[in-house]
Amino acid sequence: MEENQGRQGLKSRRKGWFKETVFYQIWIRSFADGNGDGIGDLYGVYDKLEYLHDLGIDGIWFSPIYPSPNADFGYDISDYRNIHPDYGTLEQFLKVLNKAHSLGIRVLMDLVVNHTSDEHMWFQMSRRRIAPYTDYYIWRDEPNNWDSLFEGKAWEYDELRGQYYLHLFSKKQPDLNMDNPKVRQEVREIMRFWLDMGVDGFREDVITFISKREGLPDGLPFVPAANAIMHYKDGPHVHEYLREFRRIAEEYNAVQIGEGPMTTVQSAMQYLTGDTKSMDMMISFDHMLADCIYTEYLHLPFSLVRFKRAVSRWQTTLAGKSWNVLYLENHDHPRIISRYGSEDYWRESGTMLAMCYLFLQGTPFVYQGQEIGMTNIRLDSIADYIDVQSKGNYERLLTFEPEEKRLHRVHVSSRDSARTPVQWTAGKNAGFTTGEPWFVINPNYTHINVAAEQDDPWSILSFYKKCIALRKRSKTLLYGSYREFYPNDPHFYIYERVHDKTRYLIVCSFSEHEQVLTMPEPYCSGKLQLVLANYPGTNGALPTFRPYEARVYRMRKT
Ligand code: NOJ
Repeated sequence: MEENQGRQGLKSRRKGWFKETVFYQIWIRSFADGNGDGIGDLYGVYDKLEYLHDLGIDGIWFSPIYPSPNADFGYDISDYRNIHPDYGTLEQFLKVLNKAHSLGIRVLMDLVVNHTSDEHMWFQMSRRRIAPYTDYYIWRDEPNNWDSLFEGKAWEYDELRGQYYLHLFSKKQPDLNMDNPKVRQEVREIMRFWLDMGVDGFREDVITFISKREGLPDGLPFVPAANAIMHYKDGPHVHEYLREFRRIAEEYNAVQIGEGPMTTVQSAMQYLTGDTKSMDMMISFDHMLADCIYTEYLHLPFSLVRFKRAVSRWQTTLAGKSWNVLYLENHDHPRIISRYGSEDYWRESGTMLAMCYLFLQGTPFVYQGQEIGMTNIRLDSIADYIDVQSKGNYERLLTFEPEEKRLHRVHVSSRDSARTPVQWTAGKNAGFTTGEPWFVINPNYTHINVAAEQDDPWSILSFYKKCIALRKRSKTLLYGSYREFYPNDPHFYIYERVHDKTRYLIVCSFSEHEQVLTMPEPYCSGKLQLVLANYPGTNGALPTFRPYEARVYRMRKT
């Protein structure tokens, strides 16, 4: 058995360590296949750690890698203390953890405790009313009118028990009864299990939903999907329960990152500050709604002003009080170039998007494939998509629309676009596997792939490296204050970071056309130095910005 060196990581884990970390999110099934069975795994991860290190990454967040029937690709866990056999073993996990630590890379696990899989032993016992599991889940004789966020109603009848169980997500994801102290004890023990092994913290899945309103009152009658969100988001005991979990994480100086759909900055502040502080960072959703209403399925043209308003709201509200999660992609959203950038200006918009968020205040997360500019897939029919949420939206929302329009909605919104295998080379199966890949590979792998971009100094990949390196060298970019200029400008996103005697100005054009910029006040005079640009040979003095051009300037106060 691999020796567990995990606790060594603990010694060097100082308070606030995560503020200087750049995380990379691995959705393992599609990351890299190391054993040739067509499925990404921990052997593949092990081999790619140097690649991540070279990119400047010093943290990994693993989306769930536990045993799971994969109704929701790992977010339906059937055993919290093991590794899915598709991905390896606990021993292989330890190898990855130890190698990651030796390269200075921290490792976060996904803690999914709002629900389990219906195949988890607890649920199987609970169905049979076997103690102590009888009340581990939320059982009722009669359902209320809540909808599931993924499919149909939120209640499913269980023949064996003769009652309905609550599932806010798919039928195969029954919600745990967090009001039961035994369930909370289980959660604390799961946390200890992984922390003792040496992991550095958790991303906590839909953690804002764990406490349901007493009596489970009905939700709104004619609203699909989120009709009862006010009865389970930020529920009555959520902060009390999270305080119990916080105590464990604090013992280890482990980081806790909270996720909750539709978290507003006001509700996030409750988790991040004061007596109710239970998280180091909260994942914001606001800036991911700049081209849609509530869900990407209900899409709208991209609005830069909307995007900027959301980012600035979080930047200014958290300033000096807490810390942001910075991200543009994860496994729940389509690819960002296809959304906020342009596939026609693929390299230009991919690099600009990197710059627009990597210099904000907070901890950046890069999602697998984002660093090479992977884009959305377009499959021929709904039957070719595999994501439960995409299928649920298609079957439930705007069903009166013509088929072509509905399929278009799936194209622009599906989580499957973020879940195609990472494109490593232009060779067979994009270098992802030597076997038969478990899911479609985006046909553009012949030109969008790691190998092609690695030696090109102007590739998206090289640009991510440059941005990450610059960020790491500069206290100003890490800790400086944030101020936005021209918030209502529809083409430019411009912000500064200021600390001591140094100012940085970040200018990003979101336009497909040339745009002329009038420099904001403090930058009109004085010595401006261009430190980074996404077009080769940029003359920083020129006021005209080419399509999706992005520049970083530095100015020292005299
Ligand atoms: C949020 C996760 O990110 C998503 O992938 C999952 O489907 C839901 N929570 C339910 O666990």
